[in-house]
Amino acid sequence: MCGIVGYIGTAPAAPLLIEGLSRLEYRGYDSAGIAVLGSSGLRVTKKAGRVRDLDEALPKRLAGKIGVGHTRWATHGAATDANAHPHCDATGKVSVVHNGIVDNAASLRDRLTDDGVEFHSETDTEVIAHLIGRSAADTLEEAVLEALAAVQGTYGLAVLHADHPDRIVVARNGSPLIVGVGDKEMWVASDVAALVRYTRQVVYLDDGELATVTAGGFTTFTSDRQPTQKRPTTVDLSVEDYDEGEHRHFMRKEILDQADAAERILRGRLDERFGTAHLGGLNLDPRASRAIQRVKILGCGSAYYVGQLGAGLVEELARIPADAEPASEFRYRNPVIERDTLYVAVSQSGETIDTLLAVQEIKRKGGRVIGLINVVGSTIARECDGGIYLHAGPEVAVASTKALTNMAIGFALLALHLGRVRDLSVSDGKRIIAGLQRLPAQIDQIVAADEDLSTVAGVLAEAQSLFFVGRVRGYPVAREGAQKFKEISYRHAEAYQTSELKHGPLALISDQVPTVAIVPDDALCDRNVAALHEIAARKGPLVVVTHAGVDLGHVDATRIDVPQNEPEIDPILLTIPLQILAYHAAVKLGHDVDKPRNLAKSVTVE
Ligand code: F6R
Repeated sequence: MCGIVGYIGTAPAAPLLIEGLSRLEYRGYDSAGIAVLGSSGLRVTKKAGRVRDLDEALPKRLAGKIGVGHTRWATHGAATDANAHPHCDATGKVSVVHNGIVDNAASLRDRLTDDGVEFHSETDTEVIAHLIGRSAADTLEEAVLEALAAVQGTYGLAVLHADHPDRIVVARNGSPLIVGVGDKEMWVASDVAALVRYTRQVVYLDDGELATVTAGGFTTFTSDRQPTQKRPTTVDLSVEDYDEGEHRHFMRKEILDQADAAERILRGRLDERFGTAHLGGLNLDPRASRAIQRVKILGCGSAYYVGQLGAGLVEELARIPADAEPASEFRYRNPVIERDTLYVAVSQSGETIDTLLAVQEIKRKGGRVIGLINVVGSTIARECDGGIYLHAGPEVAVASTKALTNMAIGFALLALHLGRVRDLSVSDGKRIIAGLQRLPAQIDQIVAADEDLSTVAGVLAEAQSLFFVGRVRGYPVAREGAQKFKEISYRHAEAYQTSELKHGPLALISDQVPTVAIVPDDALCDRNVAALHEIAARKGPLVVVTHAGVDLGHVDATRIDVPQNEPEIDPILLTIPLQILAYHAAVKLGHDVDKPRNLAKSVTVE
C-alpha cells in the first residue's frame, strides 16, 4: 500500500520519479506527489488523483537531479492535494515520503502544536517532517534517527533536506524499502517494480535499518548507529514483467499467464517415481512431517479463501486435521500455539501486515511457520521457518488471479508431500502428480473459452446482487468467485454453502438475483443439482460451473463446462472461469479493472 521512489544522480529527477510512480501506482492510487531539490531549493508538487494528474500539474521547468516521490492509499486524512506526500517541515527544507502508520501521531501532533508548529495536512507523516526539521543535529542521518526515536509505528521512508543536497536518507521498520544501485546514480523504492527499468542490482533493508544514499553509493546502519554490511543482489525480473504488453489490462495478462505460472511452480517439484513432491525449502524432515498433528493456514482476503481450499487438500491427501483462518483476526483472540501444529502463512505480496503479525505472534510463542509466498525475499518469506515460493511472477492487477492459482497448486504440493510420509499410497500420489501435470493445458483450455464467458458475464453484470454457491470443495471456490466479482464489478456478491440456502437466503432468490453455482462431478453432485431445482423454482437465473459429465436435468441454466481433473484438484480449475466472469463484468461496466475503487495491492496497514 502506497509506493515510494527516490532518485539521485546525473539525470533530471522529475521524469524518472514520474516513471517510477506510474510503475508503483498499483500500490495506491488516490493521490501522488514528488519533491525535487534543485539550485532554487526544494520544490514539491502533489495532487489528488492519479500519477497522470500529477504529471500534468508539474511546473514546466523542474530542474534537480535528486528527488523523492510517493503514490498514496489514504489512511490518515482524505485523498486531497494537502494530504498527498511528500510532506514538509515549517522551513520547507525537509521533505518526507512515508509508507506505514505512525501510531502515536496524535500525541506527537499535540506536542508539536503546543510548540507552535502549524500543520498543513491531516496525515501522520507530517509529524515526521516537523520532527526532522526541528532537530538541531549536524547531520541528516542524526536528525532522522532523533525523529524516529520519538515515533511508534511502522515506516518505510525517504527524506530529502535542502541543507544536505547530496543525499537521501531512508529508513525501514515494517514497510519495505530497497536501494537500487546504478552507475553514478542510485534509486530508492518500496518495490522493485519502480527500479527494474534502470537497475537490477538492489539492496533490501531490514527492519530497524537506515541507509544514506548518494549518487556514488550507499552506506547502511542500524537505529543504534551501528554500521551494517549489505551487498546488492540481482533481481530476476525485467521491465516486461511490469508491462501490460498487448493486453488491455494487467488482470487479463495475468489470467492468461496462469498456465505458464502453473508450470513454473511445478517445475522440478514432482517426483513421479515415488509419487511425491520435492519441497526442499520447507525445511521439514520426514520425522518432523510425521509429527504434525494439525495444520493451521493463515491468510487474508482471497489468500484466506485459497487457504480454505488448501486445508481441504491437506485433510484429503494427508489426513491431517486442517483449517484456515483470516490472519487479520487470529492474533486478537490470543490463540493457543501448539508445538505439533504446522502453521502456514499464505500471501502473494509477502507484505500483508495482518499475515506478518500473525506469523510473528506464532513465532514469539514457539510455533513453526512455513510460508506459501510469491514475492521472493519479502518480509513474510524472510520471517518464516521455510516455505514454498509460488513463482507466479509479478502480479500488478489489484485483484489477484495467477498468484491465487499458484497458491492452490502450492497447497496441493504440500498436501502430497505430507501425505506421502503418512497414509497416502504411492498410487494415489502418482494419480495426483498426473493430475497436476495436466493442469497447465487444462488452464489454457479454460482461458480459451474467453468469448463465451464474456457473454455470460454481460448478463451477470446487469444484476445488482448475486449469489455464489458451492459445497465442501466447491465452497472456497464460491467464496473466491464472489470476492473477485464484488471487488472489481462493485456488485453485491455473496457466497454461501449451497446446503445453507434453504436455511434463510433462499428468501432473496428472484428473477433479479442470479446464482453462480459450483457443481463438480463428485459425490455431492446429485444434492447440488437438487438445490439448483430449488433456485430455478423461485425463478432465480442460474450459471452453473460444472463438468461435462454432470446432468443438470431439465433445470434452465447457463452451463460453463470446465475440464475435469482429479476430484481433489478440480477446485483449482473451477475457480478460473469465475476470475474471467468478474473481469468481463467489470470491463462491461466500464470500471478501472486493475485499480478498483478504495483498494490497493498489498495491504501493509492494519
Ligand atoms: C483479492 C485480493 C486480496 C488479497 C489479500 C491478501 O483479489 O487480492 O484479497 O488476496 O489482500 O494479499 P496477499 O496475498 O498479498 O497477502
